[in-house]
Amino acid sequence: MAEDKIEFPSNFEFGASLSAFQVEKPDTQRNTDWDKFIKNNPDKEIIKSHEIGPDWWNLENAKKDLQILGNLGLNSFRFSIEWARIYPEQNSINKDALLKYRRLFELIKNHGMSPTITLNHFTLPEWIEKKGGWQNSEIVEHFSAYTKTVLTEFPDVNTWFTVNEPNIMVIAGYLTHYFPPAKKNIVTALIARNNILKAHRAAFRLIKDKNPHTKVGLSHAFGWYRPEHADSLAERYYTRFVDWIDSKNYAAATNNSVDFIGCNFYTGYYLDLNLSRFKVKYRKDAAGIPETLIFGQTKRPGAYTSDMGWPIVPDFLLALLRNLHKTYNRPLLITENGIADGDDKYRAFYILTHLTAVAKAIKEGINVNGYYYWSAVDNLEWLYGFDKKFGLISVDPKTGERNLRKSAELYRDIIVGRRIDFSNLIKKHLPVDQHNAARLLIKDILKAQIHSPRTKYLD
Ligand code: BGC
Repeated sequence: MAEDKIEFPSNFEFGASLSAFQVEKPDTQRNTDWDKFIKNNPDKEIIKSHEIGPDWWNLENAKKDLQILGNLGLNSFRFSIEWARIYPEQNSINKDALLKYRRLFELIKNHGMSPTITLNHFTLPEWIEKKGGWQNSEIVEHFSAYTKTVLTEFPDVNTWFTVNEPNIMVIAGYLTHYFPPAKKNIVTALIARNNILKAHRAAFRLIKDKNPHTKVGLSHAFGWYRPEHADSLAERYYTRFVDWIDSKNYAAATNNSVDFIGCNFYTGYYLDLNLSRFKVKYRKDAAGIPETLIFGQTKRPGAYTSDMGWPIVPDFLLALLRNLHKTYNRPLLITENGIADGDDKYRAFYILTHLTAVAKAIKEGINVNGYYYWSAVDNLEWLYGFDKKFGLISVDPKTGERNLRKSAELYRDIIVGRRIDFSNLIKKHLPVDQHNAARLLIKDILKAQIHSPRTKYLD
């Protein structure tokens, strides 16, 4: 390799993320649309009997995990607050729940991490869902009231995320049926989109008015698409169109009401206008979820894939960061990036190559302020329940036993050195059969070779 290491700036944020609903055990105080959705769909067996997961509503569990994460050297942590716990009913505030999140906030700080807060990570109080959820414009007022309440308890937060992935909320909840309210209606989807964006803007203003120095943004689910046939003009335009519909229209609509762009990035695809590919839409995976919702989407051959079936394409992350920088010219923050990998076979490879893409972007002059691995602990992966294991820390969903995964040690080595020392890290943390692939991919990333169609890093 021409270069053998790449550095991170001294103020770079190395973090991990999680969301309240995905780690908290339900109780009578938590009446969300997702609790109802799970109850109403017993056939989906989202949560199997005796499963409790990481159970962070018991702060003793949170403490155990935070201690492990603090020892890795993380300096930042992103968590979310469950709206339904703060407002179990429209006009009643649960002060105890608010104080409990405050204790969690202090715990995070005590373990050396700077806490950042997401106000809404997908779930809604059931009383709001009954009024139509994001379809009813009243939600903007309710979200503002909730934001004000939380702000009073947390005047000292450095970074806020108003909502997580509006595009996924709209696609999964209002255009298809994978999230509540499972609407499948384009008009409703557009209304929901509009209200989510309004709620974001209102919360942005409220937070900035109260504390102009706080950074406020939101997280978008970005993929990255490439035309299967680089010489096809039609495919190139189609790719831009899909990218716009999928996520960029949300980034454009919020660019004047953010201090930074939050990027959740997991994977990317090729798009092929060959009609025979359009069948892909109907192929479903074990949970009954179509592998793709986008016409003509194909996977990169010769790439490792995660337990979600998502190809590992870190060079696409570099392409995305360049594109966001050029288009929106805002500071960037990787608010989620991670892999479902129950055997912990590819996680070290994943973290190593994605962080290489981030460091390379920074070296090119792109302002990326931080990276949060998703997820801090194994958690409830929505429709997939506890079956998909994203955590740096593994958690047995029945016993709650937790252990640091081996791959997290690679993350620790990068954080401690604030640099990626390629050869040493590959030798120390990757299985021998991945060495070549890692070297090839890293070499391409360092040369910014994203544009060769269907670059293979596996034989
Ligand atoms: C969401 C997380 C989810 C992760 C992995 C993101 O879209 O914000 O809640 O667990 O992806 O699917």
